[in-house]
Amino acid sequence: MSEVIAAIDTYLDGSAVERMEQYQAFLRIPSISALSQHAGDIEEAARFLADAMSAIGLENVEVAPTDGHPVVYADWLHAEGAPTVLVYGHYDVQPVDPLDLWVRPPFEPRIEDGRIYARGAADDKGQVHLHLWAARAWLDTQGRLPVNLRYIFEGEEESGSVNFDGWLEGNRHRLGADLAVISDSGFFQGNRPAITIGLRGLMYAQIDVSGPSQDLHSGTYGGLVQNPANALARILTDLRHEDGRVAVPGFYDQVRELTDQERAEFSRLDFDDAGLAADIGVSVLFGEPGFSSLERRGARPTLDVNGLWGGFQGEGSKTIIPAHAHAKISCRLVPDMDPARTFSLVRDHVLAAAPPGVVVEVHLLSSGLWSLTGIDHPATLAAARALEEVFGESPVYLREGGSIPAAASFGSMLGLPVVLLGFTPPDDHAHSPNEFMRLDNYEGGIRTVARYWEALGTGLD
Ligand code: BES
Ligand code: MN
Ligand code: MN
Repeated sequence: MSEVIAAIDTYLDGSAVERMEQYQAFLRIPSISALSQHAGDIEEAARFLADAMSAIGLENVEVAPTDGHPVVYADWLHAEGAPTVLVYGHYDVQPVDPLDLWVRPPFEPRIEDGRIYARGAADDKGQVHLHLWAARAWLDTQGRLPVNLRYIFEGEEESGSVNFDGWLEGNRHRLGADLAVISDSGFFQGNRPAITIGLRGLMYAQIDVSGPSQDLHSGTYGGLVQNPANALARILTDLRHEDGRVAVPGFYDQVRELTDQERAEFSRLDFDDAGLAADIGVSVLFGEPGFSSLERRGARPTLDVNGLWGGFQGEGSKTIIPAHAHAKISCRLVPDMDPARTFSLVRDHVLAAAPPGVVVEVHLLSSGLWSLTGIDHPATLAAARALEEVFGESPVYLREGGSIPAAASFGSMLGLPVVLLGFTPPDDHAHSPNEFMRLDNYEGGIRTVARYWEALGTGLD
């Protein structure tokens, strides 16, 4: 271990209490991007980050407005001759319902058994926060950083990153970099260190079915009119075969088939189907036949209903034919699928399945591209070494099922190689009640990033 890293480790060991306090203060801000009543909280979280970054000596700190929630930017560009790394994370979080399943309120962080529980603890405020401390440890102990850094923290990743590409486009002239590092993914099952090399894309849409101008007595009108909820059920049934394959014509046309080598790589990772089923409370896993669970998650597209409503939802019974019914649906996309094309295929199929007597509309809510990188870029190898030094185990390479629209944008718009270096395993309850981060992973994350910067400082080849 270098003397510098030893000093950084000592500094980090001595500052854990202050760090935990700041981490918890960050988690107390309910920065839910999807709900407009939290717009002020988003603003507060952005300011919190900006202030924290100024305080540690980062420069050009800016809460940059977009048409949606702000991007927080800061940089440190004095490592002459060293590479420039663009660091990405997001400070917005998912909604917290159902609230009654949380052991403690989601924005009152709780530390217990080496874990910190709160919405955003893992996804992604914890991972944003650990980057601040990696920089701070360098700056406070060395007065410098070994690489040039540009931080870009997004405020609406959990809402589909709708304005992110626009911001990137408007600022690309001043975002020169050699590499993007994204900390918004994680470790493998069993808390094994991992580097993510693939993410799925996303196409998210809403289906609205409307019938009579208001709810009707189902005795007087039952048998006389089309029921929007029944019609919606029929439409949704039509989207998927019973075995889980998507039934939309043309849906699989652009899907890149797995090579034998890719399938061999997938099968090298042990995946415990039964254990996972038990963990999440289902009797058996389900999905497209002919592929393993890891292949289905990492390299096959899906179509899922994410929400479904209409008609009477209260206690007891109410005999009506509802005036309308709605569904939110989304597709996870894999190479080489195009989100816009997928939307039009799905929309056409839905409209074609609309029965007479109702009006059906399909709206695109958001979309994001898939991404896939190799494992042999020098920046990836350096990340793997840093992980191994800290966590004592070399990382596995994952193709993940989740989506980070920014990952594709850094590649396509800025032409940068992207390293997905995240620190939390999939049992962290992200998006669910009782989200948590293991403190060992969080602390190890800081030390990994500190080492990673040192390694990158010596060059990218
Ligand atoms: N951090 C996740 C993405 C992720 C999940 C990466 C699992 C690797 C493994 C991110 O915050 C997320 O939840 N993204 C959304 C994207 C959407 C709102 C556009 C997702 O995947 O649903
Ligand atoms: Mn995330
Ligand atoms: Mn998320």
